[in-house]
Amino acid sequence: MVKVGVLGCGNVGGALVRLIERRRDDIEARTGLRLEVAKVAVRSLTRERGITLAADLLTRDPRDVVDDPAIDVVVEVIGGIEPARELILAAMKASKPVVTANKELLANHGAELFEASAACSVDLLFEAAVAGGIPIVRPMRESLAGEDVRRIMGIVNGTTNFILTRMTEQGTSYAAALAEAQQLGYAERDPTADVEGYDAGAKAAILASIAFGARVVAGDVYHEGIAGITPTDIEFARRLGYVIKLLAVAERFNEAAGPEVAVRVHPAMVPLTHPLAGVRDSFNAVFVEGDAVGDLMFYGRGAGGDPTASAVLGDVVDAARNLRKGTHGDLVTLAKLPIRPIDELASSYYVNLDVVDRPGVLRAIAEVFERHGVSIRSLEQEGIGDDARMIFITHRAIEADVQRTLTDLRGLDVILQVNSVLRVVGDESP
Ligand SMILES: NC(=O)c1ccc[n+]([C@@H]2O[C@H](COP(=O)([O-])OP(=O)(O)OC[C@H]3O[C@@H](n4cnc5c(N)ncnc54)[C@H](OP(=O)(O)O)[C@@H]3O)[C@@H](O)[C@H]2O)c1
Repeated sequence: MVKVGVLGCGNVGGALVRLIERRRDDIEARTGLRLEVAKVAVRSLTRERGITLAADLLTRDPRDVVDDPAIDVVVEVIGGIEPARELILAAMKASKPVVTANKELLANHGAELFEASAACSVDLLFEAAVAGGIPIVRPMRESLAGEDVRRIMGIVNGTTNFILTRMTEQGTSYAAALAEAQQLGYAERDPTADVEGYDAGAKAAILASIAFGARVVAGDVYHEGIAGITPTDIEFARRLGYVIKLLAVAERFNEAAGPEVAVRVHPAMVPLTHPLAGVRDSFNAVFVEGDAVGDLMFYGRGAGGDPTASAVLGDVVDAARNLRKGTHGDLVTLAKLPIRPIDELASSYYVNLDVVDRPGVLRAIAEVFERHGVSIRSLEQEGIGDDARMIFITHRAIEADVQRTLTDLRGLDVILQVNSVLRVVGDESP
């Protein structure tokens, strides 16, 4: 018998309690472990949760869970930094393994929690914190422990993927697609964390930490959101053979002076032939590029009560197994590696300009690109008169050079407006 204490009983906690009930006999048959939810901490004792819990199981004091010597494993699904952080630390100090889905906490205090887990010799498991139901943390920590992972690219936010899919497939505006996502419950009333890339940034920080053994926190992640993406960008992307996705990209550079990492979240043009291009609606996927293993992709539901509870339950069974054997898993040691800033990263770029329709415009623009060492891979011109527009795709160029090019382009009298600039990712031509 393994007694599970659950901190929080909302979307994920409620689904976990139901899933344990549903899966208990089968888990026992397969593992010999019988899981029992022994205590659940919530804020409101009267809130309707759609689950039947004995009245004496619920408590408003989370310390009743953490301090109870009868509880074997603690699950933290409250969310946020405090009191989650201090409760997890207290549970580990009391030698209880902890399972958490809390990306915000791990992305900001991961190193402290990893160290406490090692110091207390207990498991700290967090499969659900990145890409919900998709197994990615365990494959990274275990299956790929010997791999030289070079780059991870993830569609790790379902809300923004849903919005971009609607814009791509139905020609919807950003505002209309966001309103639909809110109506369907995919987007919060305040969608900032999703649409500005903060949520994806937290997940990218955790992924980079475990994949590269580097101390990366949410504040190290460069991010741009999707609010500026227009139906015109979507249409041009399609015509050029791309689809626009919000990508979390974590890279490790093996330099002679030592490794460096870079982590960023921004909308990107992804070639239609890339496996990530087919990830639609609110689905998530994580694409891993390794030196020996080559390309891998993990696909599935990145959020939602049941998929997230499935990942939490897998961790609970793992922690319970370890507890029975008197052992625990080791987390990677997080080294303090240099974080390469966005200015120094290289990419191809899509640049969409409104231009004056007269001879010599192309030469003036090409001179600016050349001045900053940004070479043009392709050019499309369309419209006449007031609607004249030029769309460039560049060869790989350094971000700082592209930014200098854009500054000078804005100063040209033949440029009416720089409409949009997007990085092209997943197309490794030079
Ligand atoms: N939802 C998803 O799809 C998803 C996916 C991946 C990861 N996660 C992560 O999972 C965690 C939980 O998310 P959620 O969607 O389940 O959140 P939620 O629905 O808001 O549930 C939070 C729960 O915590 C309880 N709670 C809040 N403060 C508390 C306190 N001080 N003491 C005791 N209980 C407290 C709440 O109690 P009341 O019910 O009484 O208000 C509620 O039951 C978060 O870290 C989130 O980032 C969620």
